[in-house]
Amino acid sequence: MKKKITIFGSTGSIGQSTLDIIKQNPDKYEVIALTANKNYLRLLEQAKFFKPKIVSINDNASYKKFIDLNSNKNLKVLNGLNSYEEILDFNTDLVMAAITGSAGLLPVVSALKKGLSIALANKESLVCSGSLVISLAKINNAKILPVDSEHNAIYQVLDSKNKSKISRLILTASGGPFLKTKIGELKNVTPREAIKHPNWSMGKKISIDSATMMNKGLELIEACYLFGIHQKNIDVVIHPESIIHSCVEYMDGSMLAQMGTPDMRTPISFTLAYPERIKTDVQRLNLSEIKKLTFFEPDLNKYPCLQLAYNSLEIGKSAPTILNAANEVAVQRFLEKKIKFLSIAGVVEKTLNNSSISSINSIKDVIEVDKDSRDLANSIIKSGSY
Ligand SMILES: NC(=O)c1ccc[n+]([C@@H]2O[C@H](COP(=O)([O-])OP(=O)(O)OC[C@H]3O[C@@H](n4cnc5c(N)ncnc54)[C@H](OP(=O)(O)O)[C@@H]3O)[C@@H](O)[C@H]2O)c1
Repeated sequence: MKKKITIFGSTGSIGQSTLDIIKQNPDKYEVIALTANKNYLRLLEQAKFFKPKIVSINDNASYKKFIDLNSNKNLKVLNGLNSYEEILDFNTDLVMAAITGSAGLLPVVSALKKGLSIALANKESLVCSGSLVISLAKINNAKILPVDSEHNAIYQVLDSKNKSKISRLILTASGGPFLKTKIGELKNVTPREAIKHPNWSMGKKISIDSATMMNKGLELIEACYLFGIHQKNIDVVIHPESIIHSCVEYMDGSMLAQMGTPDMRTPISFTLAYPERIKTDVQRLNLSEIKKLTFFEPDLNKYPCLQLAYNSLEIGKSAPTILNAANEVAVQRFLEKKIKFLSIAGVVEKTLNNSSISSINSIKDVIEVDKDSRDLANSIIKSGSY
C-alpha cells in the first residue's frame, strides 16, 4: 500500500524537496493534494507530474490563471481558506505542513482535528499558538513529526522512555550569512545579501530569519513546546559547518547528536518514511575530509532577535504570538526594501513593548493577537519610530 501524502505549500523549498523524495520512491508514495499561494505555473507542472486528486491556490488571480491553463478535468481545483478542510476530506496518511508563516496555522489545525499525522515544517504555527497545537495533537491522537533539521535531529535521538533523564537540548545554528560580518557593517546589508545562506537553500522568509537569527529564536520556542523542555534547559550553539543538527544531553553525561550533510531531504525523508527509513541520494558525510567541527556561543548583541525570542518565552502568554507576527511583517518590509536589516529587531521589540500581553486559550485568540500585532507592527513602521 502506498502512503498517501498531502503537501500544504508544495511550490516552496520544502514542498519541492518533499516531491523530490516522492519522485525517487514512486512505489511508496501517492500524492493526494498540493497547494500554493500564487505560483500557479509551478503548481500546474507538479499537478501534471504527480497527478494529485485535488489542488488549492490561495491567491484569487492565480487561481483563475490556473483554471484557464488546466486541461485535466478530473482534477479538483479550489481557492480560499476553507479549501484546507475540503482537501482533508480526501483520504490522507501524512500531511506535510510547508506553508510559510502563520498562514500555515489553519491547515495544521484542520489536519490535527482529523487526527492526521503531520510532518511539521511550518514552525510559525507552533510558535504563534503556544501549547494549543500540541494539545490538539494529544486530544486527537495525531503525531507531529518535526521537519526542521534541529528538531528532527532531537526527535531522532530523544529517548522518550527516559525523557525525565534529559538534562539539556543543544540547538545548533549556522550563524547565517553574516557570521563573519562586524555589527557596524550590518547597517546597509541588502535583502539579496541577507538571503544568501552559506549552507542551506531555503525560502526567502526563513533565509532572512537565519540572517537575523530570529530563526533560532523561533526554533527555541518550537523546541520548548514540541519537547516540553523549559528554555533554561535549551542551549543555542553556533556551529558554522551545519553538520551536527542538534543534540540531547542526558543526566549521565551522554550527549547524543544527529549528523548529516545540510540537505533538508534527510529530515523530510525521515518524516515521510516514519517509523521506517527510506533510501535517498543525499550526499554522504566524509568525516576524514571534514576533519574538524567548530562551535561557539552566539553574540546576543549582534543577534538581538534571538534575545527577543528568549524574552518572549520569559513573558509567556501571547508574547511569542506577537513576536512572530511582528517579525513576519518586518521581514516582509525588509524584503520590499522599506526598512533596513537592523530595523527588523527594532520593529519586533517595539511591537512587543507596545502590546498588552493576554492569555491564549483558543485558535480564535491566536488569530486576533496575530492580526492586532501585524497592524501594530505596520503602524510602527509607518511612523518610523523603531
Ligand atoms: N526551506 C527550508 O530549508 C526550511 C527548513 C526548516 C523549516 N522550514 C520551514 O518550512 C516552512 C516553509 O519554508 P520554505 O522555505 O519552503 O518557504 P517557501 O519556499 O517560501 O515556500 C512557502 C510555501 O507556502 C506557500 N504560501 C506562502 N504563503 C501562503 C499563504 N498565505 N497561503 C497559502 N500558501 C502560502 C507558498 O506558495 P507560493 O510558492 O505560491 O508562494 C509556498 O508553497 C517555513 O515555516 C519554514 O520556516 C523551511
